[in-house]
Amino acid sequence: MRTHARTAQETEDLGARLARARPARDEALAILYLQGELGAGKTTFARGFLRALGVTEEVRSPTYTLLELYPAGAITVVHVDLYRVRDAAELDTLGLREWARGGHLWLIEWPERGASRLPSADLTLAFTVSDAGHDIEVSASSPPGRAWLAQLAIARSGSGASGRSDAGGGGPGSS
Ligand SMILES: Nc1ncnc2c1ncn2[C@@H]1O[C@H](COP(=O)(O)OP(=O)(O)O)[C@@H](O)[C@H]1O
Ligand SMILES: [Mg+2]
Repeated sequence: MRTHARTAQETEDLGARLARARPARDEALAILYLQGELGAGKTTFARGFLRALGVTEEVRSPTYTLLELYPAGAITVVHVDLYRVRDAAELDTLGLREWARGGHLWLIEWPERGASRLPSADLTLAFTVSDAGHDIEVSASSPPGRAWLAQLAIARSGSGASGRSDAGGGGPGSS
């Protein structure tokens, strides 16, 4: 899915819509890769995403800390920024692995710098800036990721804003 964001607010709104379209699988590990150059809107997206999950504290870029944790109800969001990582082996000392388990949702900026040491993505968002503004391409690379993207499309084509149904009913793939 490809979308255009004319303003930072629109990028935040996409983050919020994607958060609300999240499959009801709190017990799972969910991984989002946020790709794109500096200033393309990755942290802006993460801010909108976290707000929609009820996070009220300030969302800072984890450029220097590399990692910020946000408790968000039943899950913990792990916001990672690997921009300053020169060698993927540095990730071993970060203790990232500790968070690679159920109940955690990762938003990873500069995932290419973590190479094969990162869990594979459910969704990849590619942010680009051109004369026409900011574009965001969302693609799915796992069954939960595809269900998530499908739910986003439904929310877009339906009445929109309210997004995810929290009525339970078992996520896609559950029996
Ligand atoms: N459509 C847009 N989407 C995202 N950011 C935008 C947009 N238009 C302007 N901006 C601005 O561009 C900057 C994007 O910064 P940021 O989200 O930190 O990027 P990144 O994390 O990719 O380096 C912010 O200052 C934001 O306000
Ligand atoms: Mg950033």
